Amino acid sequence: RLSVVLDTDPGVDDAWAILYLAAQPDVEIVAIGAAHGNVPTATAAANALRVLDVVGLDHIPVAAGHPTPLQQPLETSEFVHGEDGLGGGAGPTSPRRTSPEPAAEQLVRLARQRPGELTLLALAPLTNIALALRMEPNLPRLLRRVVLMGGAFHVPGNVTAWAEANSAHDPEAAEEVLRAGFDLTMVPLDMTEHAWADEFWLKRIADADTPAARFATSVLDAYVALYSSARGTVGCVLHDPLAAAIMVDESLATYEERQVMVELAGHTRGATLLDERKFTISRGGIPDQRPPVRIAATVDAATAMDRIHRA
Ligand code: BDR
Ligand code: CA
Repeated sequence: RLSVVLDTDPGVDDAWAILYLAAQPDVEIVAIGAAHGNVPTATAAANALRVLDVVGLDHIPVAAGHPTPLQQPLETSEFVHGEDGLGGGAGPTSPRRTSPEPAAEQLVRLARQRPGELTLLALAPLTNIALALRMEPNLPRLLRRVVLMGGAFHVPGNVTAWAEANSAHDPEAAEEVLRAGFDLTMVPLDMTEHAWADEFWLKRIADADTPAARFATSVLDAYVALYSSARGTVGCVLHDPLAAAIMVDESLATYEERQVMVELAGHTRGATLLDERKFTISRGGIPDQRPPVRIAATVDAATAMDRIHRA
């Protein structure tokens, strides 16, 4: 059984990732931390509660995270996810409240209570995780592993030409997390772009008469409209559900182990960098001995999309 703490910024694809996990018999969602990113932290927290209510998981605590990135102003993406982060169609807010402790404290507390047991699935800018690390430098040993959606290596970014949203929206936090020594798997944009839900796939969800399918469909309009106009064909990309599916079944992807660093300056701020030289007679490169992380390098997207559909 996989015991998971989620850090997330719902967000349409984050909401779908929660629905996916809620349908996995072998997954225990221990707690959720809400992050800024797609929407402000408070909205993300309210949306996480709403999604949990839909699937009857209203006992799972949701803690709101830090309201801003570590060093840059807050920038959110309502134009992708809708004004309320759920396409404007999420319905009433949950009667439940968020926990009194901040998300970073929740993560540290749970990791200390259950050392070596918990998997962290990070689907948002990494602010809360970086703050948890500052509070508890031993966090990489206390967590079993971390799986994160973030970064772009050999494809263009989706916030700038070079930077993917979760690294672009808090580059310092991403850099702190990537050099910290977690047992860490990255599911970058290179992989998640293959998680394309086309018109027919979405129709099968729309036709499924379950509370989760109805909710999943009700939040889609703005998100599908944006991706459809960007790609010239109807559909959307399910970034975070793909990362969740890979966390549940690692065999959906193949991996490369590499050091990764995050650019903190200039036009490429937020870009994730690899040193891919075969031999180094040239200068520069990653400036420290940070441990390598595992990067998903190929993915069986057809199987993953099938599983997401069934969930
Ligand atoms: C990531 O950014 C957010 O918009 C999505 O929820 C996903 O986590 C994709 O770059
Ligand atoms: Ca997200």
